[in-house]
Amino acid sequence: MLPAPGIACSWLWLVLFSPEFTKFTSWETRWTGGGVPYLPEPGTLPSWASPVIVVPHQVQRDLEQLEYLVARGVLNSELENYVAEFALPEFQLALKVVNQALEGTSDDSAVMEPNEHLAVFFGLYGRLLHLHPGKAMKTDIINPQINFEAVQTEFRKKRHRVVVIDDFFSEEGLQELRNFLLESTMWMDVKRGYVGAYLHTGFASPLVAQVEQEIRRNFADLLEGLVLQNAWAYMYDGNLPGIGAHADDSQLQINIYVTPSEANLWTSDATLPSGGLVLYGVGPPKEWGFEKYNSESKNSQIQEILQKSDWNLTIPYLQNRAILFDSTYFHKTDEMRFREGYTNRRINLTFLYGRRERLVPAPAVA
Ligand SMILES: *[C@@H]1O[C@H](CO)[C@@H](O)[C@H](O)[C@H]1NC(C)=O
Ligand SMILES: *[C@@H]1O[C@H](CO)[C@@H](O)[C@H](O)[C@H]1NC(C)=O
Repeated sequence: MLPAPGIACSWLWLVLFSPEFTKFTSWETRWTGGGVPYLPEPGTLPSWASPVIVVPHQVQRDLEQLEYLVARGVLNSELENYVAEFALPEFQLALKVVNQALEGTSDDSAVMEPNEHLAVFFGLYGRLLHLHPGKAMKTDIINPQINFEAVQTEFRKKRHRVVVIDDFFSEEGLQELRNFLLESTMWMDVKRGYVGAYLHTGFASPLVAQVEQEIRRNFADLLEGLVLQNAWAYMYDGNLPGIGAHADDSQLQINIYVTPSEANLWTSDATLPSGGLVLYGVGPPKEWGFEKYNSESKNSQIQEILQKSDWNLTIPYLQNRAILFDSTYFHKTDEMRFREGYTNRRINLTFLYGRRERLVPAPAVA
């Protein structure tokens, strides 16, 4: 959004040139700058500052993340002082300004004009400030106790082409991934109720590459011939709606939940929504293109199709649960109620494999 130098990530090169990640060679100019984070000067707007569309839940999230980074003491002292002294107050002010602008309207975002009282906010908005090293682990990151032969056989034989695998990552692996996800300020894509981190915004770390390599190794049979299409992480507000019913341009996908189960209020009150995934036993008509099947809000016909589905499944949100399913099916995020607080924000990871060649789910194998 805002073109400006960012910090150099030498490992991006390493990762981008590893076999599975080779195609993700484009990233924004903000990644290729000088080796230290760019810290805008308070009171002086950067020359490139321009009006930005500001979404309150994103500013609130950014603010919580900055507070978290200071509290954890993971920044060097210069950066930590800068964040505490300049960034936090300006993000607080920006949140106030945008909330005031939206008061009494039904809009969920507002355009903010550059303003020198918010020079730091404008200078940092949508840009990388801190990236956790995200190094690969020396041990397996996916739990070696899982019997992947059995999982793959189960998947093939099922009529509902979905399998749920609990305790997916090793304990240390899960912790390392959470640190990477919570600390890195790479959550730049804002949607209704959630933000996304993509390979080109910082998600393509050696750690994530390791996850991908182990997924491929463990699901070797199912993934044969299916190329990795994309991978990302989403972080949800926790009390706003998730993603509506859609299908993706891939054959198989794996979603993994990493935020602690206790953050999901459903775990202490089963009358609340489960916060997980709803899968429908029906996919889009053959002639539909991506535009038609990828967004319920853009296509009301999706609802009509879902009505005709002969089954649906709700898979509750639990930490360290992986869900592998045929992306041909329509699916959506279940309603969610998560606890307040940065570390309670719902995070899931998605890896998508293979393009949608067949628009009908593959039949069960007898
Ligand atoms: C799932 O199907 C049942 C009927 O079989 C329906 O009552 C229910 O609303 C459906 N759930 C969702 C989330 O669409
Ligand atoms: C997150 O989970 C929801 C359902 O739980 C799913 O629709 C979505 O594709 C997932 N996305 C990511 C990035 O994990």
